[in-house]
Amino acid sequence: MEIRQAEINDAVMILNYLNIVGGQTDNLLFGAEGLEITVSEEETIIAAIQQSLKSCMLIAIDEDKVVGIGNILENRRKRISHHVRLAISVDKRYWGKGVSQSLMNGLISFAKEKHVEIISLEVFEDNIRARKLYEKYGFEEIGYFKNYAKINGEYKHAVLMNLYLNKDEN
Ligand SMILES: CC(C)(COP(=O)(O)OP(=O)(O)OC[C@H]1O[C@@H](n2cnc3c(N)ncnc32)[C@H](O)[C@@H]1OP(=O)(O)O)[C@@H](O)C(=O)NCCC(=O)NCCS
Repeated sequence: MEIRQAEINDAVMILNYLNIVGGQTDNLLFGAEGLEITVSEEETIIAAIQQSLKSCMLIAIDEDKVVGIGNILENRRKRISHHVRLAISVDKRYWGKGVSQSLMNGLISFAKEKHVEIISLEVFEDNIRARKLYEKYGFEEIGYFKNYAKINGEYKHAVLMNLYLNKDEN
């Protein structure tokens, strides 16, 4: 398995992956419909990430297919640009095989290299697997977002988590 930065040419396989993973879990912000964007829109997103100083998209590849994606997205407003947002997903057939660890290690190393101070994320309250993963990497709960998502009319609550990378300095 290979972990690398997404390139513009990867847009088609990334969209295919997102359709698959969206249909496998209710824990993402989209379902089997995927992101409902065109290949050219996905190419634009990848290009924007490549050009942004503190953003990155890592893809895990096995047998020429994307099996996991992890993103770090920068906050462009200057006063909150010391923190970034993290998102991760792995194809269900690859859960429990270390793909999430490889992606998390890559994302956190990237953030440290860019002198990011805080990585933040939202995770559905009942997504125990993801919450355990984040806790393992030192993320701490900083809040609760009631009615964060609405799936087929049903609300899902989220836990807000932060990883403080410069803890010793505080
Ligand atoms: C969250 C996700 C990326 C984790 O990837 P994964 O390959 O399943 O990760 P792991 O197998 O390392 O499991 C993560 C941790 O969950 C815990 N875990 C594993 N199986 C579990 C289970 N059946 N029940 C509860 N916790 C479990 C363990 O603590 C594990 O870490 P450890 O075994 O090293 O102690 C993956 O499950 C996924 O893509 N889910 C759907 C999308 C998603 O939820 N993304 C996050 C949105 S915020």
